[in-house]
Amino acid sequence: MCGIVAYIGPKEAYPLLMKGLQRLEYRGYDSAGVALFNGDIRVYKKKGKVQELADYVSTLSYEGTMGIGHTRWATHGEPDDINAHPHFSGNRRLVLVHNGIIENYDVLKKALEKEGHHFESQTDTEVLVHLIEEIQTRENLPLEEAVRVALTRVVGAYAIVVMDKQEPGKLVGARKASPLVIGIGEGEYFLASDATPLIEHTKKVIYLNDQEIAVVERNGDLQIKKIDSNEVQTPFIHELDMEIEALEKGGYDYFMLKEIYEQPDTIADAMRGRINPRENWVRLGGLEKIYEQIANAQRFIIAACGTSWHSGLIGEYLIEDLARIPVEVEYASELRYRNPIITDKDVVIAISQSGETADTLAAVELAKEKGALVYGIVNVVGSSIARATDSGSYIHAGPEIGVASTKAFTGQVTLLTLMALDLAQRRGEISETRFQELLTEFKNIPDKVQKVLEKNQQIKYIAGEIQDKPNALYLGRGYNFPVALEGALKLKEISYIHAEGYPAAEMKHGPIALIDEQMPVIVIATNRSAYDKIVSNIQEVKARKGIVIAIVTEGDETISHIADHTIEIPDTEEPFTPLLSVIPLQLLSYYIAVMRGCNVDQPRNLAKSVTVE
Ligand code: M6R
Repeated sequence: MCGIVAYIGPKEAYPLLMKGLQRLEYRGYDSAGVALFNGDIRVYKKKGKVQELADYVSTLSYEGTMGIGHTRWATHGEPDDINAHPHFSGNRRLVLVHNGIIENYDVLKKALEKEGHHFESQTDTEVLVHLIEEIQTRENLPLEEAVRVALTRVVGAYAIVVMDKQEPGKLVGARKASPLVIGIGEGEYFLASDATPLIEHTKKVIYLNDQEIAVVERNGDLQIKKIDSNEVQTPFIHELDMEIEALEKGGYDYFMLKEIYEQPDTIADAMRGRINPRENWVRLGGLEKIYEQIANAQRFIIAACGTSWHSGLIGEYLIEDLARIPVEVEYASELRYRNPIITDKDVVIAISQSGETADTLAAVELAKEKGALVYGIVNVVGSSIARATDSGSYIHAGPEIGVASTKAFTGQVTLLTLMALDLAQRRGEISETRFQELLTEFKNIPDKVQKVLEKNQQIKYIAGEIQDKPNALYLGRGYNFPVALEGALKLKEISYIHAEGYPAAEMKHGPIALIDEQMPVIVIATNRSAYDKIVSNIQEVKARKGIVIAIVTEGDETISHIADHTIEIPDTEEPFTPLLSVIPLQLLSYYIAVMRGCNVDQPRNLAKSVTVE
């Protein structure tokens, strides 16, 4: 969703801001803009890509050593030049960029209109900058105090940065339920929605906490206060553990493809230091600290959205199967609004790649209010969910830039597998011999993923066969039912083909009506439990002339005689099959999207981290 980058220091701000906006493109957006201070404030903004903004500004003057930039993902008002950020105050003294939603903007707008304010855009953001102007002018306050007072009157979520032409030595940033990071350079400061625009300038960052306001000044001063109490806070400086190469495509056409191919390494990274088959142990640091509480939990509730919800479903199968703890999996957006029964005997596991998904963060807060212990499985280090949970584990997948989540999914499933194994052993739910067998096999998974990736040419060929079909059905059973859901989601989001994932046995209860010679049916049919049943499901599809693409175990001779195409994956223990079976589905959707001419990394309407409800 929207991205913010701001700069104050000795260098020309414009090239830094534009580079920062390019780094933020992966978040999803539909317009972009910058404001620069050079004696006066100039604002340039355009509907469309950052490149269109750059083309527009190239003929204009863009000097200035302080500025703010923004990529907008439209919420209030359609994507156009006027609704794009930054937004001016009525007196053209202030300019502001915003990520989030001001929920009471309508009430505020009406009150401001009564005071004589006129609005140019349809955005909630413009209301906020007029509110700051009103307070600043009426009460004659310094910028940071006017911003702080205005924010106490706002309901909603925000990360903002404000610039004032009458106080040109400072930038003011603030956050509530939307991330904002301060980068500390040599005699310069950056503010940004995440660390990606900062990494080439500095590794020293401060993650602003919720309800904090920060002032960074050209003279080097930095002050952080609480918005409600005005109390001064002591900032904690983090060292970023990220290299610039992680933000480059490294020779691949798209980040998504690079991220698919990184999976043998990212899965191994998620296991690193956490598993030792020779000594027969699995250890998750985050679990260690809270083991007593977890061991006595009456149930686990997993809360997540999208792909992370799919990995949560696999987590349910793993934890119930191996550790014998009851698990419920909830869409975070539903959990937070349906008055759920959560008590201090429950453990809530929040799963999120970005660590910023608004609904998942709200579910975390709700679970904490209700007394549950909250455990996070997160990729982005220092993100809001990582900081809001009581304990947790990072998946260590590195930055995921493609909007379609791939390596984060397999990282999450790896973590959930480690968690299930750890709990199974500690709770005595599994024999030592079986535990050792599973551990030894689990260590082989990165190599087996590599073998699946080597099927890419065959998968590309199959993609060519079905690229023009308007629909697709994905079927799986047991551990591979969530993989069917994930395969369908991948296809939908990047190729815009309508796709549904179903438990294979449910097909007879409705979706079978859709099957004809135009319908590709992708079936995950590995040879462990319920194999005969899935063979029957494939026969049922073929009897209705559906096009069957089956993911089978190496050496399978039954299905290859029935299906139109079979993609073989190495044999493994049943609980680990999702880590292998999802790979062909990722590649299939990638190749189909490329063949259909879609922008794989930035699909229409989608945002990488969904920071509004
Ligand atoms: O950052 P999160 O894991 O919390 O994001 C959740 C979903 O928004 C995300 O998985 C989304 O569904 C992806 N586009 C899927 O590829």
